[in-house]
Amino acid sequence: MKRFYFLTVMVFITAVLALPGCEKKAEEEKVEEKPEVTEEAVTEEEPYVTKRILYVRENGVPEDYKDKANPLEATEENIERGKELYRTHCSMCHGKEGLGDTPAGRSLTPPASDLSVTMGMPEATDAYLFWTVSEGGLPIKTPMLPFKSTFSEEDRWKIILYEKTLKAE
Ligand code: HEC
Repeated sequence: MKRFYFLTVMVFITAVLALPGCEKKAEEEKVEEKPEVTEEAVTEEEPYVTKRILYVRENGVPEDYKDKANPLEATEENIERGKELYRTHCSMCHGKEGLGDTPAGRSLTPPASDLSVTMGMPEATDAYLFWTVSEGGLPIKTPMLPFKSTFSEEDRWKIILYEKTLKAE
């Protein structure tokens, strides 16, 4: 009888101790389930919207960049130089074809964008692309690298000329 009493008490104590733990776990799971801002905006009509596109829809392209236009012609030579720079500095994240399908690109939050889709978005103007390549993810807190101190303005425009060739058909 005494032993039975002891066991009951033990079970009761264990249950009381375990309870708050359970609740906490449930709470944590709830937080993880909360969708990212990018996912919330995805609709059936518009299956691919990135954090950057949403930012620009809300705020426009930042002042220093909004009037930028590509001063270069899309000559074979310019595109070839852009391709060379893209292959050495961008493709490890965005992939050779711009699909964002590399292990490094996918491991990031948000993942590296699929540029074949980006290039077809109405928001992806020269000003938008030049701002993106120059300032990277700093203004919108993403791991996209800034290149304004790596490349001259001219080389950044050449990369953009090449990026345009990545647009999906
Ligand atoms: C370290 C990985 C990494 C490298 C290297 C990188 N990017 Fe990105 N890029 C990202 C990530 C992550 C995003 C998505 C977040 C964002 O837009 O800032 C992105 C977004 C972009 C976008 C915006 C696409 C959209 O969603 O509208 C463009 C354009 C772009 N990158 C071009 C380039 C170019 C050009 C280079 C090379 C000069 C490059 N990236 C190098 C990770 C990378």
